[in-house]
Amino acid sequence: MSHALKKFLTLCQHRVESALEQRLPAENILPFRLHQAMRYSTLDGGKRMRPMLTYSTGKALGIELASLDGIACAIEFIHVYSLIHDDLPAMDDDNLRRGKATNHIAFDEASAILAGDALQTLAFDTLVNDTSLNITPTQRLQIIRTLTKASGTQGMVGGQAIDLASVDKKISLPELENMHIHKTGALIRASVNMAALVKADLDPEIAKKLDHYAKCIGLSFQVKDDILDEESDTQTLGKTQGKDQDNNKPTYPALLGLDGAKQKAQQLHQQALESLDSFGDEAQILRDLSLYIIQRSH
Ligand code: IPE
Ligand code: IPE
Ligand code: MG
Ligand code: MG
Ligand code: MG
Repeated sequence: MSHALKKFLTLCQHRVESALEQRLPAENILPFRLHQAMRYSTLDGGKRMRPMLTYSTGKALGIELASLDGIACAIEFIHVYSLIHDDLPAMDDDNLRRGKATNHIAFDEASAILAGDALQTLAFDTLVNDTSLNITPTQRLQIIRTLTKASGTQGMVGGQAIDLASVDKKISLPELENMHIHKTGALIRASVNMAALVKADLDPEIAKKLDHYAKCIGLSFQVKDDILDEESDTQTLGKTQGKDQDNNKPTYPALLGLDGAKQKAQQLHQQALESLDSFGDEAQILRDLSLYIIQRSH
């Protein structure tokens, strides 16, 4: 990881940690157990890649980081909700996440379902009401629309449905790509696009390039997640290694082999870089992030 990326990543991780903490309901507010479950899975864990993308896009566009806190939190709330539900026995049935017991193991299944539900509504409540967002009502609506689409049947939830329907089945490469673009790519794309929507008079050509960048890294992120599931270890990942094979999931390594999957990740990284060709140094963090996504160890 480049020195500049490491520095900015650490800054963003601290920034979003305190922003999340401030926006989550306190544990001493009723219902206590629900709020404990929400805070347990959200705070003090994860790479915060989506908030990082929001802040990095802001940096590339000259937007003040403080005005992106609400968006960074909203996207992380949706992501954490997706992880809590993804780990449930009815889905991937995992007991380890971010190096600790999954939500339904630490609490119980009903609490995990409700914590996910409440994090989802908290995400939209944040976009509707957050005072960090200094934008017009039209911009706010566009941002809400972006997250809505990325979260629902046209995005993450739709992708999860395809994922679950594909267990024990052989699917084609285009079907696999479609699944990944939805289940993981959509939220990553939204992390970038929501930040771009904060810039009032952004040139549509620039917005298109950023969107293409985000589409490439959204897919490479899940390709790498599949690779790590196969070749990393539980300790490093903070989640159970080998789960995809155990659950008979179609993945990039399963379809293309590990080398083929790595090549695919590399190609997507090159395409992401090309999307940023017309940008200068202000987009260096975005370039470094794309490389980090395919080189990361967890
Ligand atoms: C894991 O996401 C689930 C996927 C969408 C691949 P991350 O790898 O971003 O998980 P955290 O947030 O760092 O725990
Ligand atoms: C999950 O994909 C994507 C989500 C929407 C949560 P995975 O099932 O591969 O994520 P991990 O490997 O459990 O983090
Ligand atoms: Mg899954
Ligand atoms: Mg999973
Ligand atoms: Mg995975």
